[in-house]
Amino acid sequence: MQTDPQRFLTDLHQLRSFGAAGIGKGVVRPAYSDADVAARKWLADRFTEAGLRVEIDPMGNVFGLAEGPSLLMGSHSDSQPEGGWLDGALGVIAALEVARAAREAGGPVVSVVSFQDEEGRFGVTTGSAVWSGHLALDDADALVDHAGVTLAKARQAIADMVTGEVDPAQFTGFVELHIEQGPTLDISGEQIGVVTDIVGIRDMKMTFEGQQNHAGTTPMHLRRDAFQAVSAFNTALNDRFRNVVTPSTVWTIGHLSLHPNASSIVPGRAVFSMQWRDGDAARLGRMEEIIRETAAEVAETQGMTPSCGPLLGLEPVAMDADLRSALQQGAEAVAPGNWRKMPSGALHDATNVSRLMPVAMLFVPSIGGISHAFEEDTREDDLVAGVRVLEHAVKALAESSFAGK
Ligand code: GLV
Ligand code: MN
Ligand code: MN
Repeated sequence: MQTDPQRFLTDLHQLRSFGAAGIGKGVVRPAYSDADVAARKWLADRFTEAGLRVEIDPMGNVFGLAEGPSLLMGSHSDSQPEGGWLDGALGVIAALEVARAAREAGGPVVSVVSFQDEEGRFGVTTGSAVWSGHLALDDADALVDHAGVTLAKARQAIADMVTGEVDPAQFTGFVELHIEQGPTLDISGEQIGVVTDIVGIRDMKMTFEGQQNHAGTTPMHLRRDAFQAVSAFNTALNDRFRNVVTPSTVWTIGHLSLHPNASSIVPGRAVFSMQWRDGDAARLGRMEEIIRETAAEVAETQGMTPSCGPLLGLEPVAMDADLRSALQQGAEAVAPGNWRKMPSGALHDATNVSRLMPVAMLFVPSIGGISHAFEEDTREDDLVAGVRVLEHAVKALAESSFAGK
């Protein structure tokens, strides 16, 4: 089999045209938006043209299936509210190119997937979480986005595309190519990262309820200002985490909504996202205790009523040794001495899929280490190198029956 770099790059740019926005090669294609649905229809057509059978499950995960037991490859095609053109898209189009080249050559046997809502408009990697059985569809349906829309309502946008459930038993393993989304490879100048582990994550919505009031007449000492509570909470949290975290632990308040969000009103309610990630599940648990204790203390001193939404999360996972070894062989063939093994600080669908089958992941560099931003990009020769590593690995895996003979 022989992958075609030009055909791969053409399709990758074509996918970017759905939701192309902002500076550079930015994309706005959140799960179930018009751009996302149009992109999924286009992908389904590309899968069909490649000789794959299209099946779409109730979440909108789009599969292109080869006959018989196959190696599954892919990623996601939804984006962050402001995202780059490669996050997820690279893994889907690279998988399409490998599956297409494999079919043209009469083997190995490769299927393709684009998972839905990896970027968590509604939760954490929602589409693959439901497919893997980690999250029941009924529970997922009750999740709401920051605008208050339920997933049940949002997924009506793909209802006419759904063909039914897709049985994971037909797949022998899952391989996902992704941009690194961090600075490691860009700084070292290496071309490929073979992932060893993916970190764990916890994510929940928190609320401080105070008293909305007049910003001119309410003396400072009588205020129950929800923004001041968030600010005090954040400062205290950074301080209290100091003895618990490592240099690779991260935590983020990325979304904050003040009510009613007006210059002359003391905000009566603050709703915000609290997310933390680490490779050690016990540390994630300790951080949760600190978050809850700190919120309770701040609420007490500032006259707030605190509340927390459901705790969403994924455990840290290690990559499968056999699949990883095939990727390492491919990396050495394509970029001799110019690749490394590394953990993933970003979350990926592979975490959920690891409940069903062996999984492994491959990274290519992100220029400047930037992602989840319009500026996200990767050099063309690095993108192509990633596809070539996949091609090498799939050929090697065919010998070990992961991808048929
Ligand atoms: C996935 O995009 C993540 O947030 O790591
Ligand atoms: Mn991604
Ligand atoms: Mn992402």
